[in-house]
Formats: sequence, C-alpha cells, structure tokens
Amino acid sequence: MTIDKYVLEALSLSRSEGPIYRQLADHFGQLVQQGVLKPGDKLPTHRALADELQVTVGTVTRSYAEMEKRGLVEARVGAGTFVKQSERQGWFLQPVRTENHECNLGYNIPPALDRSATIQEALQQLATSREQLGHMMLYQKAEGFDQHRQCVADWLKQRGVAVDASRMLFTSGAQHGVQLALTVMCRAGDTLLVEKYAYPGVISLAQQQQVKLEPVEMDDQGLLPQSLEAACKRHNPRAIYCTPTLQNPTTAIMNSERRVQILAVCRKYGVMVLEDDVNGLLPTNPPPPLVNSDPDNVIYIGSLSKCLAPGLRVGFLSAPKRLYRRLAIALQNQSWMISPVLTGLSCELLRSGAADQILQWVQADMRLRYQILQQVLGSFDIRSQPNCFHSWLRIPDEWQLNKFIRACHQQAVTVKSGELFVPPGCKAPQYIRLAISGPESVPQLEQGLEKIRDLIS
Ligand SMILES: Cc1ncc(COP(=O)(O)O)c(C=O)c1O
Repeated sequence: MTIDKYVLEALSLSRSEGPIYRQLADHFGQLVQQGVLKPGDKLPTHRALADELQVTVGTVTRSYAEMEKRGLVEARVGAGTFVKQSERQGWFLQPVRTENHECNLGYNIPPALDRSATIQEALQQLATSREQLGHMMLYQKAEGFDQHRQCVADWLKQRGVAVDASRMLFTSGAQHGVQLALTVMCRAGDTLLVEKYAYPGVISLAQQQQVKLEPVEMDDQGLLPQSLEAACKRHNPRAIYCTPTLQNPTTAIMNSERRVQILAVCRKYGVMVLEDDVNGLLPTNPPPPLVNSDPDNVIYIGSLSKCLAPGLRVGFLSAPKRLYRRLAIALQNQSWMISPVLTGLSCELLRSGAADQILQWVQADMRLRYQILQQVLGSFDIRSQPNCFHSWLRIPDEWQLNKFIRACHQQAVTVKSGELFVPPGCKAPQYIRLAISGPESVPQLEQGLEKIRDLIS
C-alpha cells in the first residue's frame, strides 16, 4: 500500500472545514468504509504522511490517535499503525459445538425453555381473523400499527415502565434500537460516552459508524456522577449510552438516588441519554427506568428478547417528541417497517398472559442457576444478581487472561473475555463474563462452573 494510492488523489485539506487532523481521520474512515483500505493495511509513518501533506507531524499523530479512538486503526509497538479488523473477536455469534458437549457460557441468551406450544397457540389466535392477516401483509407506516404500540405500552406500564404509545417505535430487537438511536444522534467523529465496561454490541456499532467512545468510571451502582460530569466537560459528547438495570457485563443496578444524579448531569450538559433497558424486566422488583423521570431527554430502548424470546426480534424504543420523526425516517430508510406479523404475534402473547407466564419460567430457572453460581463460585471475586443472565468474574493475576480463556476452551467451556467489553484502545480488564443462562441444562451449567473453579483454584 503506497501513500499516493489513498491520500494524494482524493484528499483535499481545507483550512476552513474544521481541524485538519479530523478531516484526515474522516478521509481515512471513508476509505476503510469503501474497502479501499483493508484490515491489516499499514498506514504511512507519521513523518512520511506529514511531509507528503505539508502538515506538522503533530497533526498526523493527533489524527492517528483520533482514528484509534474511532476503532479504525491500531498502533502496534515498534511496527506502525494498521487498519483494524472491524469485527470484534468473540462478538459474532458462533454456533454451539454440541458434538463435544460444550458448556456455552458465552452468550446472554434466555434459558432454553420449550416455548413451542405457547407460540403455536398465539399463532393460531393471530390467524383467526383473515381480515387482520390481510392487513398485515401490506406496507405500514414506519411506526407500526397504533394498536400494537398501545398494547406494548399498556403491558410495560403494568411493569413500571411509563412510555407513551405515541412516542414509541418498534425495532428489530434492542440492538436495532441502539443502532437507530446512534444513527440519529451521532455523526462520524462525534463522541458517545459509555460505561467503563460496556455491551460489545454498542462498541461494534460505534466502530462501524466511526463514533468515538469515551468510557465513564463505574462503581457497584454503575455510572459515577462525578466521572460523568468530568467526561461531559472534557469530551463534549453527543450522548451517553448506558444500561442502568443489570448492566452488561458488570450486573450493576443503579439505585433511585443515582438515577436522579445521572439524569441531572446529563440535563446540565445537554447530553441525550440512550437507556438500554433490555434486561429491565428480569428482576422481580426492578427500579423505575430513567425514561420515567425524564422522557424528553432519554431515548428508551427495550426488547422482548430476554423476557420472552429473542427469535421474535421485537424491540421498541420511546423517544423525545423532537426526535421521533427523525427516528421513524431512519427506520424507514433501513427497512421501511418492522413486520406487523411479528408485532402482532408479540401482542397476542402479551394480551393472553403467555408472556407473563414465560417470564415467570425464565425467572424461576434463573433462580436455580443463580443458586448454583453462588455455590460453586460464590467465594471468588464475582459480581452477580438474582435473575441476571450473566455474571462478571475476576481472574487472579497469576493467570494471563487469554491463557485462562484458552484453558476454558480446552475444557469445552466457552466464556467471554473482558477485552470484548472495553472501547478500542482501552486496557482489557482481568475479568471474564459468564452467561449462566446459556448452558442447555442446570447440570451442564454446574459442570462448566466447576471446571472454571478448578482452573482458578
Ligand atoms: C445490553 C444489551 N443490549 C442489547 C442486546 C440485544 O438485544 P436484542 O436481542 O433485543 O437485540 C443485548 C443482548 O445481549 C444486551 O445485552
């Protein structure tokens, strides 16, 4: 790869179009997106590029640092700067290797319960009205059927989530909700604040959209208000993405006081909150979500994936009025609408009480799994919560993190490295995430956890 191939032809730096370092980063970002630059390509040295472009070495250094923050490139000590693999190792879903009875503690999926009879009944019910079915086969407005939104809003209200149907949009799961919110809130080069350890899905999305991530310190309650305030002052962020209930991966639940403090800081600095409440319905007595207190400064993102079934691919978001239309247009640009068959099926499950029944099964199964976790690993440095699909385990310093994960794999136990949960360029924590909901059965979970315990011991 030579410099002239990608820089000289297309790059025209202009003093009037913002800082040069940022223009340079935008340009490289476009080349990566267009596939002109490929993972593993080496960038020119700072000096060579500076000479070529007649800018200072400091400008190039700053630009490379900016690209690193956006997750576009990585600096390797003594070797130079390289275009990064855009796909995060371990984020892409891998099928479970059933042939060697793998214990999969990798993915935050609901426990394997047989929902088929319940779904069958709901589908039959949905099929009773031919008129309704015919209607569902037509194009709809991006917001989805009004009665479907009302049904979900009513169901959420009974569970302490106060969202107005007129502010709701259906999404294809919470992941899609986060994507929509990012599309509308951030452009390439903008900063999004995230919890110090964050959901890999938001990290991967930010990388794809070239949004810079800045981590905010946390404690047992999640985000720390002082650190949030410092980050707002320092980085002038567009928004903050956070998971106040059963944070992924740390399991933290913010108490009410902390929620008030976090909202106050965000209001003060004009920072929009993207509240990911995907796990919010799992606790038996969850605290009210942030959106209840400040619906005009929170984009609330929820989903039926964890409490009902991820295969439904039905999520929803509730947005401040001023953003609603932009979000609906973004949704229409992407896929026109969410299939009314799926939202209709979901509503059948909510209306009939089947959804509540499934959630109770999930909670009962998780109670058992939580007990096993406490019995086997409770004496180690581990964070967990009742009804939480995952837990966050510290690995003793004697172990190198990667070696520990490999040792688990050799024992047919899949876990996720702490490395997956930090923004590009941040140090990997000496932790692993264990999705205790993942193994097919409770005995399989127990065996997997015992193998981990033996390795640590
Ligand atoms: C914090 C968080 N947000 C979003 C998602 C994705 O949810 P969905 O399946 O609804 O897209 C997950 C899945 O594990 C998650 O942990």
